[in-house]
Amino acid sequence: MNRARASAPPTVGNVGVGFDLLGHALAGTGDIVTATRTDRAAVRVTAIRGIETPLPMEADRNTAGRAALALLPLFPAGTGLDLEIDKGIAMGSGMGGSASSAVAAAVAVSALLPERPDMATLFHAAVQGEAAATGSAHGDNVAPALLGGLTIAPHEGEPLRLPVPEWLHAAVVRPHFPLETRRSREVLAAPYAIGDFVRQSEGLALLLAGCHSGDDALIRRGLHDVLVEPRRAPLIPGFAAVKQAALDAGALGASISGGGPSVFAWCADAATATRASQAMQAAFRSAGHASDALVSPVDAPGARVLP
Ligand code: HSE
Repeated sequence: MNRARASAPPTVGNVGVGFDLLGHALAGTGDIVTATRTDRAAVRVTAIRGIETPLPMEADRNTAGRAALALLPLFPAGTGLDLEIDKGIAMGSGMGGSASSAVAAAVAVSALLPERPDMATLFHAAVQGEAAATGSAHGDNVAPALLGGLTIAPHEGEPLRLPVPEWLHAAVVRPHFPLETRRSREVLAAPYAIGDFVRQSEGLALLLAGCHSGDDALIRRGLHDVLVEPRRAPLIPGFAAVKQAALDAGALGASISGGGPSVFAWCADAATATRASQAMQAAFRSAGHASDALVSPVDAPGARVLP
């Protein structure tokens, strides 16, 4: 096969208490990458469609290009790859757009190999792509874009997909202004109090125990980000009111999706997630921002090769 297309979904990074570690997929329009095998011995990004702000076309500076470069040594010497990128996720939205392009590229490129590389190789190739965009090799959006569902992104080895109750739904609301991940990482400089670290670990442990046992009360107790959210909230006008609107509508918890400005809420059923999304949109409107909303099961599908 000389040509393959793959799509990868949008994602929620961090899930509040799992900074750079935890993430989950969303059932929404993601990015699509078409990879074509060539004999030019180089990776080229030949087209980027679906965005107004230009993205880097140099392979090493492009998320999809960097992921393909990481996989190129698996092909016979002299092989090249041309990539076409169709962006479905808004840039600077906090819904994992750079990870989606990197994962779609890794999956499309791997479909051109006689044998699919193992999951750890695919994952770390896509993490290198993420680093091209954000300057940091974190995999919390890459892992769920690749595997689907709720995932852990380790710094070594393969990512893990975790059990999630099928009733668990996310409402994600994206206000119509961008926030660059590089900017939202700048505000996270130390120091951090050890007591806050312990509370964050407690939240992560409770949330994961709740997902594992299907106990919504444990998820509600766990979903409180005391480390990152307080530092990033000032970058998102209306955040406190948006979060409160989700909680008032019955959400189990709410926080910033990835680096923001999107805000997510976890809910015990789809109807509550729909109500929460409407309340969150109204709160953003009151803060002067139009938005769009997505409601999805947390256990949503990951990347796939397209026919
Ligand atoms: N974990 C990352 C962050 C996700 O919060 O900065 C965005 O790339």
